[in-house]
Amino acid sequence: MRIAVVGAGYVGLVSAACLAEIGHDVILVDADVNRIADLNRGEVPIHERLLSELLQRHRCQRLTFSSSVSAAVVQSEAVFITVGTPQADGGEPDLSYVESVAAEIASAISEPKLVVEKSTVPVCTCESIRKVLLLHGAELSHVSVASNPEFLREGTAVTDFLYPDRIVMGVDDDFSAAMLYSIYRPLTQGTYYQQEGAIPCPLGQSATIQTIVTNARSAELIKHASNAFLAMKISYINVVANIAETVGADIDQVCAGIGADPRIGPEFLKAGIGYGGSCFPKDVSAFHSVAEQCGIDFSLLAEVTRINTQQRLNFVKKVRNALWTLRGKRIGALGLAFKGGTDDIRESPAIAIIQDLLKEGASVCAYDPAAMLKAREVFPAGSIQYADNEYEAATRRDALLVLTDWRQFGVLDLLKLRAVMKLPIVIDGRNLFNPSQMAAAGFLYYSVGRALQITETMPSLWHGIHFGPPAARMAATGWPDNRRGLHKELVST
Ligand code: UGA
Repeated sequence: MRIAVVGAGYVGLVSAACLAEIGHDVILVDADVNRIADLNRGEVPIHERLLSELLQRHRCQRLTFSSSVSAAVVQSEAVFITVGTPQADGGEPDLSYVESVAAEIASAISEPKLVVEKSTVPVCTCESIRKVLLLHGAELSHVSVASNPEFLREGTAVTDFLYPDRIVMGVDDDFSAAMLYSIYRPLTQGTYYQQEGAIPCPLGQSATIQTIVTNARSAELIKHASNAFLAMKISYINVVANIAETVGADIDQVCAGIGADPRIGPEFLKAGIGYGGSCFPKDVSAFHSVAEQCGIDFSLLAEVTRINTQQRLNFVKKVRNALWTLRGKRIGALGLAFKGGTDDIRESPAIAIIQDLLKEGASVCAYDPAAMLKAREVFPAGSIQYADNEYEAATRRDALLVLTDWRQFGVLDLLKLRAVMKLPIVIDGRNLFNPSQMAAAGFLYYSVGRALQITETMPSLWHGIHFGPPAARMAATGWPDNRRGLHKELVST
């Protein structure tokens, strides 16, 4: 099929490359002529695994680039809208890009075409798009609008597209349904997977796809409700982690117990410094706005956001507990991206935490395998230092913070790390390390929802150290003395 994808942001780039990969002829359109020129030269503007391989494979063949919406629409049977829907001041998304693209598409529709909304939008947006198409001159019989939300995660977006757990087709007419079935047939019937050179299925992921056909409004609701639910799961587990930390329980063990219930599942139960990125923070607010506009109280979502913000502040408090005053302290930071596997720093908890530390007078040396270029826009030269690797970020530092869950951070040489640091303090916001191993390597190791471990092999001085959250918080909450004793026993074994 001939497909136009309008909007060469994250979703548009991945969708266009993957639609070409499964056999379609795709024109990717963006108003930013520099971006189009970069893509034509083979430059990929984002760090996303397998994306450059796919762009390389299909560029100038099944995948071309253009800055003209109307030219691309004229040549296509289906048009995917993948433009940004940034958060407006009131928390609701700004849909002006969607509207202006719909108006441009209308001017180029002279035969039946499918318009697919793939950007994350509030429920009923398909209807608004349909109205705009008609208002701008498209004929009623030529207009079919469908919702086809994406569930791509940054870092694994290509394989998420090619091996989806579900494809949601929100359609209000037979033409839309038939077109979407044709577009995804190589995946739903599995012909793509037999193709030579097909991207292999990632370990642990299944090639079984559920196709869920709904009306457009339900599909739109599925997307917001999914993201808000996942965000809620993270905030929930972060609060449980804080309780675990206070009473001397272990959040990993608690999660293993909770996640074993198939009704809950083990995913998205990783406690840490809260969620970030371009999706969850924005979508939770947008979904809350949708509820408000429907006159429905969904203050649960406000609480999800509040807990998420608080979790970052809790982490900064943890740094203060570990280091006492922050002014003049030299801190190393591992990670700037909002999660591992991406260079995206939008709404990154790492960035917010570093900003707080700088405000309190600490100096920061950061390392991130992919996000340092983008971070320089927030922290220009001189505001923080950038290291060439993890060990350099830790060298002569009073403490090392782990702020992003890059896999490579979890396999660092602990003895080498210990040797380069001024003080052996690691404060891990992503629980990447095993507390016993960290203690054995001589670190005072703080993490989230797990007790600080002081072992017999540590310098005797440390046994009397009561900085750090568990003891401090238990004392503050008047936790019974006998329980505190028990906790002390646990952490010293
Ligand atoms: C998220 C959804 O997972 C995708 O399904 C969706 O398509 C996408 O948003 C979107 O709407 O476009 P993404 O933002 O790439 O994908 O990242 P996630 O892997 O979901 O992580 C989001 C945030 O939650 C990250 O900051 C991550 O560190 C944090 N997180 C995730 C946790 O703190 N704990 C967890 O257990 C999982």
